[in-house]
Amino acid sequence: MNPTLGNPSSIGGPQRSAPNKVAPADGGDGLIDRWGRRHTDLRISVTDRCNLRCFYCMPPEGVPLLPREAILDFDEIVRVVHVAARLGVRKVRLTGGEPLVRKNLPALIGRLAGEAGLADLAMTTNGTLLADYAQELRRAGLQRVNISLDTLDRRQFQALTGQDALDQVLQGIEAAQAAGFWPIKLNALAIRGFSESQIVPLVRFALERGLEIRFIEFMPIGIVNQWSPERVLPAAAILSILRREFGSVEPVDSWGPAESEAGREEETASAVSLVAATETRRGASFQPPARCYLLGDAGARIGIISSMSRPFCRSCGRLRLNAIGELRYCLFAQRGWDLRTILRRGGDDEELIHIFRAAVQAKPLRPNTPGQQPQTHLAMCQIGG
Ligand code: 5AD
Ligand code: SF4
Repeated sequence: MNPTLGNPSSIGGPQRSAPNKVAPADGGDGLIDRWGRRHTDLRISVTDRCNLRCFYCMPPEGVPLLPREAILDFDEIVRVVHVAARLGVRKVRLTGGEPLVRKNLPALIGRLAGEAGLADLAMTTNGTLLADYAQELRRAGLQRVNISLDTLDRRQFQALTGQDALDQVLQGIEAAQAAGFWPIKLNALAIRGFSESQIVPLVRFALERGLEIRFIEFMPIGIVNQWSPERVLPAAAILSILRREFGSVEPVDSWGPAESEAGREEETASAVSLVAATETRRGASFQPPARCYLLGDAGARIGIISSMSRPFCRSCGRLRLNAIGELRYCLFAQRGWDLRTILRRGGDDEELIHIFRAAVQAKPLRPNTPGQQPQTHLAMCQIGG
């Protein structure tokens, strides 16, 4: 990262003063990076706290919690979203930690729903508190929810999250459906030695309820998440489990060629490789990272986010804002750009815009050594999932 490009900071690090000068590469509007990727998607972590302790996200004792005053307040978040919308961000997703442990979250949703520039307002949640909040969130203007559900086995859920909370999550899913959210996506992390027995039950669970399910390859994020190459259950292995159960598994409207069946079955995470960088159309808008597959002839569709075996960096249009107001261009970014300092000293929109552009301009085509080791010391809950 070129330190002259912006105002990088680290968590709890010194606050810095005025940003440096950066010429916008996109001629004025839009957040287009050096590789032509347009950034239209902002994920905002509203808290680093969580009521679960998924081993892949947090150490059992939790992470040192940020002092409350360090966390952006709702006015600050709304202001950042307003500026982001001016820069072409159309989709905002609230994450955590667990976003629903943030007090008054529906009030924030209500304010963001009033932001004219946004087309999509979504949230990723662990589902444990959804039964209490689903109606209120919907009324406030939340459009979509993604719910994390890695296993349907109660004991396995407890071993994974440290809490006997599977029933709460299942009730949360029902409540979200009853509140009228649609589509509802389930996110299931695919971990070798853990997930194999759950793939088919999770797919059936989703199909029976009209939910979309996506499996996500386990990524090395943070130092504490017990990741190793052997623990990645790659798309090819997931597909082969599905094929045994459903017969045919056909790719649909994916943006790349499908997994070639036979050749990739043996693939392991240690063989991960990046898709060669291809020219991207300047400012092209990109499709979401999940590849979709049609199962058997039942018309059922599932998604796989093969972030490890086939990274989607070349079509990434996401930015992330963590709870203390650091903007990151990537989950694997080693540093963030501090927006909070500008917000708190009464800086104007132009200063915030400048930081957005600086972060986007610094974005590499792909992180340095993806798939080999964690690139940041932050846990997933501190970056925002
Ligand atoms: N790799 C992939 N996905 C992860 N998540 C958390 N940690 C990881 C990781 N190491 C996902 C969870 C959840 C969302 C908040 O982030 O599965 O769905
Ligand atoms: Fe909480 Fe989600 Fe992290 Fe699990 S993955 S500990 S539910 S923030």
